[in-house]
Amino acid sequence: MPFSNQPQKGMQDDFPWDMAVHNRVMGTIAGLLRSFHYEEYDAPVLEPLELFAAKSSEELVREQAYVLRDRGDRELVLRPEMTPTLARMVSQISRERPRPYRWYSIPKCFRFERPQKGRLREFRQLNVDLMGDDSVHSDLEMFLLVKGLMASFGLAEAGWRIRWNHRGALNALLGHRGFSADEQKAFYWLIDRVDKIAPEAFGATAAEKLPDAPKRAFLETYLANEDVSVLLAWLREIPETGELCGRLEAFQRLLGSVRLERAVYSPRTVRGLDYYTGLVFEVYAEGESIHRALFGGGRYDKLLDLYSNDPLSGIGFGMGIYIFSLFLEEAGKLPKVEAGDSVLVQPLGGEESAVFALQVAEALRAAGRVAEFSVYSGGVKKVFQKAEARGFTQVALVGDDEVREKAYSLKNLKTGTQEKIPLG
Ligand code: HAM
Repeated sequence: MPFSNQPQKGMQDDFPWDMAVHNRVMGTIAGLLRSFHYEEYDAPVLEPLELFAAKSSEELVREQAYVLRDRGDRELVLRPEMTPTLARMVSQISRERPRPYRWYSIPKCFRFERPQKGRLREFRQLNVDLMGDDSVHSDLEMFLLVKGLMASFGLAEAGWRIRWNHRGALNALLGHRGFSADEQKAFYWLIDRVDKIAPEAFGATAAEKLPDAPKRAFLETYLANEDVSVLLAWLREIPETGELCGRLEAFQRLLGSVRLERAVYSPRTVRGLDYYTGLVFEVYAEGESIHRALFGGGRYDKLLDLYSNDPLSGIGFGMGIYIFSLFLEEAGKLPKVEAGDSVLVQPLGGEESAVFALQVAEALRAAGRVAEFSVYSGGVKKVFQKAEARGFTQVALVGDDEVREKAYSLKNLKTGTQEKIPLG
């Protein structure tokens, strides 16, 4: 075979039946987001490389981005994520439009990753962001959105978990313990990898990235503690962290008041992207099958700093539709697409019946039905078989009698009944 008929590695073709399921999933998601008053936006797939170099993570840009030059010799990137684009867009309108902005989008994103379960090189990523407010209530809204999304598909709460942490708290802890900027970066890098590197290899990697032994010892102590009150106790020892502690306590209280038991503090959640400054979180499936995060997000305080000194804090998350669909499938909650109530309009005679069948099809569409003009020929029995195989529920037969009587004979394939219906 001279050409492969397969898509690029890590990319998927969406056949009509895949799109039918996808659109059902998207419809449910959009319905839930609209109920929280989020509005949809979109943007070009191509962006200047320098925007991502400045705003995204180094790894994402240097190791995973699809970079290309256009015919005007501009260096562009196929967006690996949406947040820098969102920053660019919001900076255009943030002075005129009243805040806050609750926006969502489902862009296709591109990352040159090793394809694996739940990870592709071209993928659809739901992005949800609430910008222009930095209260703990907006932090909490993200978790309520996660909970709402899960519930809207009928997913049991026991099947997933939100793991959260706070970048501001971590920065304060590390600053207080004398971590340099590079050491802080290494600390985050190591935490982000702790579940991805084999335990026996982690020690050596840690020694290489963070050569200072007492700082490595703190990494160990920090990772071993899963109790948020211990984190708070560490923070209280540091001068000028009163506001931060107050915020974390208020957040804890809020979680309790809305009974969000699926949200737990996790020292292992720090997020790989550089722009997060506050609450960070990831959502994981419980159970052994899906290891990668379903959702990931957090608060960012300097979204617009490339464009203006307009302070605008936002919080949001990304969720891979592909990994989420795998999760739905494993939970038996992937929406089923039922064949619609469609009619095949079958001419049975010569040209005259074909012309009349076209009119019948138009009349059915005008009445709100889905009607296909049949290209089949042959006996009625064969037509019924083909119609059934293709998911039609009814066949409108148009023979010479029907043309004369200005009617069609509607066969119900489920019940086997047939009736003559006058046209118009
Ligand atoms: P992220 O953690 O890089 O965050 O991606 C968020 C989610 O996108 C992941 O949890 C996963 O479900 C999905 N995802 C990422 N890479 C792939 C891939 N190669 N294949 C399939 N799915 C993938 C961000 O991108 C942030 N910009 C999210 C955000 C929005 N933060 C604030 N607002």
